[in-house]
Amino acid sequence: MKLISISSSKGGVGKTTIAANLAHMLSLRGFTVLAIDFDSQNSLRTHFGIPLSDTQGFVSKALRQSDWSPFIISVSNNLFVLPYGECDESTQSIFEQRLLNDSDFLHHGLQALRNTEGLILVADTASLSSPAFKALTQLADIQLIPLLSDTASMTQLPYLERTGFLEHPQSVKNFFILNQTNPRSDVCQDVETFAQNTLSKQLIGQIHRDESVLKAHSAEQSITDFNRLSAAAADIEAISDKVIDLLGLEIGTGAIYHDLKESIRE
Ligand SMILES: Nc1ncnc2c1ncn2[C@@H]1O[C@H](COP(=O)(O)OP(=O)(O)OP(=O)(O)O)[C@@H](O)[C@H]1O
Ligand SMILES: [Mg+2]
Repeated sequence: MKLISISSSKGGVGKTTIAANLAHMLSLRGFTVLAIDFDSQNSLRTHFGIPLSDTQGFVSKALRQSDWSPFIISVSNNLFVLPYGECDESTQSIFEQRLLNDSDFLHHGLQALRNTEGLILVADTASLSSPAFKALTQLADIQLIPLLSDTASMTQLPYLERTGFLEHPQSVKNFFILNQTNPRSDVCQDVETFAQNTLSKQLIGQIHRDESVLKAHSAEQSITDFNRLSAAAADIEAISDKVIDLLGLEIGTGAIYHDLKESIRE
């Protein structure tokens, strides 16, 4: 299993959008992919056609059941989602304490998946200081940190440097994505140049500000399925291929790995 964890220092920068669309794109490349939601907003599922009225998820059950794989929902034969689900505040708080204080908790939760050959897990988390992101750091192969293409996001860079997320010996698995870029805006262009200079090789891609992103979400589709010719779809494709490369994987032949639930049972 390979694990990609997605987080950010600011909210609303595109974590969930990127997690969902990266998962979709990697599945189109032939990999078996599980998108897992560690954010209590429980919004990742809305990118996979799961109705808002469907409250099922793994967090409310995780305190009683050590293996989380039974709560996985199939989206297609090689794309799966594990929603956070609805739960009350005290359950959320106990879940987060367990993530922080009991290293076996996450290990056992993902144990059945960790032994699944060829699986890519894409985890959407809240902030960089969230218990889930911290717990996942132990297991993550790469950590993706989206930044908006604006001045406010650039003011986060000194914080990211101070906290060891960039240009640091331990930051080798941290990579940044500049989201909502706009080639027609001078300010965005300046921000892009600044980000490229500061983040250097840790910046692995950009995603244009594109209405297709909003339209795809409201149509409960991936950007690629909604409009393969859109700028954002091309950007997601380029980022996915970069991620495949960073994970040391080869792009598939188009053959799809067999059902995840079957392979967990084997
Ligand atoms: N490239 C883009 N072009 C246009 N709109 C975008 C783009 N990326 C994200 N958005 C929109 O920005 C909003 C925030 O995106 P998203 O929910 O993915 O951010 P987030 O970081 O997960 O937020 P939160 O911190 O609340 O979890 C959404 O309405 C999404 O559709
Ligand atoms: Mg989100």
